[in-house]
Amino acid sequence: MPPTVPNRLNPSSDALQALLVRAEHALDRSLPPVAQAPTELHRAMRYAVLGGGKRLRPLLVYATAHAQGEDSRSLDAPACAVELIHAYSLVHDDLPAMDDDALRRGRPTCHIVFGEAMAILAGDALQALAFEILADETGRTTDAATGIAMLRSLSRACGAEGMAGGQALDLAAVGHPLTLAELEHMHACKTGALIRASVQLGALASGADAATRSALDRYADAVGLAFQVRDDILDVEGESAVIGKTAGKDAAADKPTFPSIIGLAASRARLAELTDLALAAIAPLGSRANLLAELARYAAQRAH
Ligand code: IPE
Ligand code: IPE
Ligand code: MG
Ligand code: MG
Ligand code: MG
Repeated sequence: MPPTVPNRLNPSSDALQALLVRAEHALDRSLPPVAQAPTELHRAMRYAVLGGGKRLRPLLVYATAHAQGEDSRSLDAPACAVELIHAYSLVHDDLPAMDDDALRRGRPTCHIVFGEAMAILAGDALQALAFEILADETGRTTDAATGIAMLRSLSRACGAEGMAGGQALDLAAVGHPLTLAELEHMHACKTGALIRASVQLGALASGADAATRSALDRYADAVGLAFQVRDDILDVEGESAVIGKTAGKDAAADKPTFPSIIGLAASRARLAELTDLALAAIAPLGSRANLLAELARYAAQRAH
């Protein structure tokens, strides 16, 4: 039975739509079956990953490689790896010790359904699975040096210099006003790092040259920051039923966000500026980068 594809990205191009379906199938295959022990852990892992999510990070992996003319088949492993890390980060982000959220992707959060202990373990296991999938791919579709570079890129992105570090900055900042530069640094770590890794994995897997990789890094940094600025704006302006998570939580928890620090109008202006930066970075790639351009616009304009 093919998995149900939650069409929440609404990509305008057929190519992105096809990649979304591809990502959904690859994720379903990458997860352990519920019938296999430990069943409750497997159930929690599958719940955290499947049945929702925009799949922006896998799409960035595919779209980056597409810009190099690479076939999508060899990209399933890195595409799944980044989404598994992302799903794990959301499970832990929602825990009572962190953001204490009860709603995610329009459903009760993992710890509400499975309990805190199982949610922590599901996150742990998803993180390990991401690296296992990437390591398994080394030697199959990539040479050893490329495989190691991909493992290094993903591990840096989720560690103390990346997502986990950004989450620590986020928690430490509650009740302590940040400067705009500090806020951008926090966002670049907690959200930007994994988005940058998604693009880097696509670039490494498709053999992009150094100049292209540096243009793609600039693109990814702008998209990563824009994505979190939009997330902060949606927390203020969005409705829970549309965004699939509890609106207004950032202000209630006294989180430093773009709207709280520079206001909504300036946040929107920064978003437009970041989108322009992202599009300018990939302009030299021409029409090969159409999917990346579409994803940059989507990151800034999305309604959920
Ligand atoms: C939410 O990410 C958390 C942030 C990093 C802002 P997404 O908005 O990509 O969440 P899903 O995967 O679509 O649910
Ligand atoms: C989450 O940021 C970033 C990570 C999960 C790494 P948020 O806390 O703003 O994400 P949401 O709003 O809960 O999705
Ligand atoms: Mg958070
Ligand atoms: Mg949160
Ligand atoms: Mg948020």
